[in-house]
This record gives sequence, C-alpha cells and structure tokens, in this order.
Amino acid sequence: MSKPIPIAVVGSGYVGLVAAVCFAEMGHPVICVDNDERKVSALQGGDTLIHEHYLPELLGKYRNSRVRFTTDLAEATRESDAIFIAVGTPQSENGDADLSYVEAVACEIARSLTSYKVIVEKSTVPVYTNEWISRAFERNGVERHLFDVVSNPEFLREGTAVADFLHPDRIVVGADSERAGAILRDIYAPLTGGKYYEREDGIPGPCTVSEPPPLLMTSTKSAEIIKHASNAFLALKISFINAVSNLCEATNANVEQVARGMGLDTRIGPKFLRPGIGYGGSCFPKDVAAFRSVAEQLGIDFSLLSEVEKINIQQKKRFVGKVRSALWNLRGKRLGVLGLAFKGDTDDIRESPAIEIVKMLLNEGCIIAAFDPAAIERTRQVLPESKELRYASNAYDAVADADALLILTDWPEFAELDLKRLNKALRYPIVIDGRNLYDPSVMTEHGFTYLSVGRPAAYPVRDLAAASSRG
Ligand code: UGA
Repeated sequence: MSKPIPIAVVGSGYVGLVAAVCFAEMGHPVICVDNDERKVSALQGGDTLIHEHYLPELLGKYRNSRVRFTTDLAEATRESDAIFIAVGTPQSENGDADLSYVEAVACEIARSLTSYKVIVEKSTVPVYTNEWISRAFERNGVERHLFDVVSNPEFLREGTAVADFLHPDRIVVGADSERAGAILRDIYAPLTGGKYYEREDGIPGPCTVSEPPPLLMTSTKSAEIIKHASNAFLALKISFINAVSNLCEATNANVEQVARGMGLDTRIGPKFLRPGIGYGGSCFPKDVAAFRSVAEQLGIDFSLLSEVEKINIQQKKRFVGKVRSALWNLRGKRLGVLGLAFKGDTDDIRESPAIEIVKMLLNEGCIIAAFDPAAIERTRQVLPESKELRYASNAYDAVADADALLILTDWPEFAELDLKRLNKALRYPIVIDGRNLYDPSVMTEHGFTYLSVGRPAAYPVRDLAAASSRG
C-alpha cells in the first residue's frame, strides 16, 4: 500500500494545475501555489481556468479538500515533503529559456526551509538548471543536507493532459540522491505499481494493472536533456513530414500514403507524421529554440534544429501561397477561417500557426470571418474585431458568402461539417485545408475545389468532366 506524500505544486498553469489535481487523484494531499491572487481565488471558487478534459471533474472532486489553492508559498513549503516547481519558462529574446520565475520561486522556498525537502523541477528547463537551483538554496543559507533537487519532466499534451499524466508512456526521474529518488518513487507508486488502474472510477487510458507505466531513473542532467530532446525530436518529425509533403505536392504524390508507408516501419512509428501548417503551441517553438541555444552555448553545432525551425516558418508561408494560388489576388477576398487554437481540443492560442496565417492574410488585404469552438475569446485579446476581421458564431456563419474556406485547426467537429450546407453557404465552393481533415474524393463529389497539404489538388467532378471533354 503506497503512502500519501504531502506535495506542493508551485504554478497553476497547464502543467501545475494538471499535476496538482492528478497527484490528488493518486491519493496525495496537494497545495497548489500561485502568486496571482485572481487565479487563486478563481480556482478556489471552482473556475477551471483552462479547457481540458476531466479537469472540471477532478477539480470538483478535490477542490478545497485534497487540493488547496493558496498564494502562500512559505506555508506550502513547510507543509510538504516534495515541492514541484511548475512555473513558466518563457522564451527570452535570444531563444534562451527565461528562468527568472524559477529562480524567484527557488529563493522564496529556500528562505522558508527548516526541514528536509525534495525540490522537483517540473517546468521544462535547460540542462544545469538543477545546479543553479541548488546554488540559489546555498546562497540563501540553506544547509546542503536540508534539500535535494531532482528533475521530473512532464510529457503531457494540451487537450489530453489529465489522461496523459495518469497514463504516461514513461515517468522520468532525474535524481542524484537516493533519498530524493525514493520519495519520487513513492509519489508515483500508485501508477507504477498499477493500483490506480484497478479503480473503477479512475480516468481511462492505455495503462493497465498488468501494464503500468515504467519509471526511468536517470541523473538530473540526463532528465533535463530528455525533456528538451524529446520535444525537439517530435518537432523535427513534424518538420520532416512537412518537407516531404512539399515534395509530394511538387510530384503529385500523396503524403498521407507516404506517411503511412513510413510509419508502418516500427523504427519510425506512425505518430507525429501528420503534415499541416507547422507546429505551434507553448512548447515546441520555445523548446526547439532553447535546446538550440543550449547547444550553441556549449559550443556544439546543432544546426539541424535551425532547419527544423526554418521549415516550420516556411510551412505557414506556403499555405498563404496556396490560398493565393487558388484565389489569384488576395486583396479584398472574403475568407471563412475555421480554427484559431494551435491545435484541436484546446483554447490555447500561444504560437498558433492559425493566428499567424490569419495575420498574414489580413496584411494581404483579405476580409476574414473566423470561428473556433473555444479560442475566440483569447484571440480577441490579440486580434480585436475590425472591419476586416469578424468572429463568427459557428462554422457556417464563418463561411457565409466567402470566396473560400480555410481550415487551420484540427478540431474534430471541423472534420464533420455538413458538406451540402457548406457548399450552399460559400460564394465559391473552394476549401483550402491546412490539416487534411477530408478525403479529396468526397470533397470533389460534393462539388468543391479542394486543396490540402501534400496531396494532389482536387477539382469538382463536373469541372473534371468538362476539362476532359474539352481535352
Ligand atoms: C507537446 C508534446 O507533445 C508533449 O509531449 C509535451 O509535454 C508538451 O509539448 C510540453 O512540452 O509541455 P502540446 O504542445 O500540447 O504537447 O501539443 P502537441 O500535440 O504535441 O502538438 C504541438 C503542435 O504540433 C501543434 O501545433 C500540432 O498541431 C502540431 N502537430 C502535431 C503537427 O503539425 N503534426 C503532428 O503530427 C503532430
């Protein structure tokens, strides 16, 4: 039987909030700390702050009981055995991760430390951060035997964060001390021992009692590198397939077939080979830049990562080029846009390729009506409504009388549009799909000109018939 370990989680963003409720779900008492009083009182009052499956249920179950929210880091430090740092590590101007929040939190914890604690880096941080945290503790007068710093990177994805946390592919713990490693093992025992998966009310996912997730023990530095290297590798996979999709477009091949053919090789695997308009979000762009910058500082040539970034930037420009190729002139063209979030199932718009494309098209003089199931309110704050930009109330409202429809985010509901209704609503039946949500032959049967990514352009059946009779 695993024992509950008192935990503090500092930061109530995606990683912090999800970790806090999931640790509670695993049976641990949790104090979640944030210095933003408004956020803390919203969480105390039942607001979930982010759009994430299972979060409302878990917060409803544990809020103000097994998970408490507070601004008082000193008190949380005193009452916990393990303190997870999950504050933001934004990108600074030169690409480095800005670690000032991590440092501020470390110093504050250090000042209220009176007994042994394990400090856990959960935020994505560059290698050597654990040494800097240790140094900050020592500079604040904390004796070395009173703390250990370990790295426990998080691999959850937005949209499926809770299920990813409770059903991880792996749990990585980078610990240079036995004592700290043992505490982390105890914290994750409900998952690694399989007990959690016996529960009937548990969150469903791929792990089971007989196949619980593995826990990999490494050095702290290895764990820090594992996180950056994993994200950079996934971004590389996406840029690779995007470059291949451009090759397919140039040769009239089909990237979906190519990706399937590649992905069946178990050494390559089918995941993260979906071509599109480039990766976005709060992690990949920032982490590729930070990893590149770490390599640079260590004198290591890792220019492969610059290529990954370059392809990602080009992919958005190529999409705008595709819109131009379908519509001739862009100035004054009315476009219906579906999708603003950086991917489906989230309201997050950070580094969203959809928003960058909308901005580029507005700069070209297009008039846009955009719809997203969850991200409109956030987008409004960076792109207010104007004569050229309107936020629509649904997908059909967005395309009303438009010269073309652009699909920019892979929301499941965008793959299930009523094609007859869509065709009627559009001024011209042209769909330019940056996420390959439709089968080209279905689109042409419904009378659409359909341009997607890495697949041959498809034209309505009647146009083809006319073209062949002319030929
Ligand atoms: C990513 C990683 O997948 C997580 O493992 C990691 O924990 C997280 O970053 C993080 O470091 O916090 P996330 O940013 O939530 O998760 O989103 P992903 O599902 O990885 O998608 C990232 C971007 O890549 C999106 O814009 C998505 O549309 C794009 N993508 C993804 C593709 O264009 N093609 C694909 O095949 C997969």
